[in-house]
Amino acid sequence: MRHALVIANLKMMMTHRADVTAYCDRLRHALAGAHLPQHVRIVVCPSLPHLDVVARCAGVEPHIAVGAQDMAVERRGAYTGQVSPQTLADSGVTYVLTGHSEQRTHRHMTDDEIGATAAAALLSGLTPVVFVGETADERAAGQISDVVGAQVRAVTTHVRSADLGRCVFVYEPVWAIGADVTPTVEDIMSAQILIRKVLASVDPDLGTADGPSILYGGSVTPSNAAALCDGIAQGTVLGRASLDPHALLAVATAVAQCQEHH
Ligand code: PGA
Repeated sequence: MRHALVIANLKMMMTHRADVTAYCDRLRHALAGAHLPQHVRIVVCPSLPHLDVVARCAGVEPHIAVGAQDMAVERRGAYTGQVSPQTLADSGVTYVLTGHSEQRTHRHMTDDEIGATAAAALLSGLTPVVFVGETADERAAGQISDVVGAQVRAVTTHVRSADLGRCVFVYEPVWAIGADVTPTVEDIMSAQILIRKVLASVDPDLGTADGPSILYGGSVTPSNAAALCDGIAQGTVLGRASLDPHALLAVATAVAQCQEHH
């Protein structure tokens, strides 16, 4: 069975090593008392200097994997301030986020750069987690399929079709991030179908249930996870809720149940 992913995007919320260490210890203890199925994987994405803290945790707890929040496209060279995908892989990282709206906005990352990052991640053996989703204005203007379609197509132009199945996509509308509102489950599913259609236009096999995992992210909590079941059956991304290991685990448990009923 494929992994259902619950991605803890810690953003820049934990500024001290001791906080991340305590967080990982609490998560491990919570997991020890839970009966989370083997195929549910919790991907903890801390700030770059704290990757080793999470890697140590992942080394002793098979449910936990290490994710980075960003990386360079280049593998090596004169790129001051950047981190190579090779360095991430060497640090125990197995997933890398790309295209989160906070990167698109604050770092001005384009669809093209995000597609290139996904391809570079795959070359270094990392699984790219690609975020797509529209803003509130784009939604109001009826542009969801144009925007999301272009974001997914940019990935398909950089990643070889044989490798697209190794990508993970997240439908995460910008207006639902940090907002306490989510789309309806029908809206989530129609965006996910749209993503599959774009992938299927490259290779029909990618449009099937065996294609890449497609998650949903944006204001998911333990209280709304069951209602969003059909949208999060392959996994979800948590921002705020991931900061509390018990809330994170509650959502992971809900995802496991959603996947079972799917
Ligand atoms: P949120 O953040 O869960 O706090 O809405 C999600 C995200 O930014 O990925």
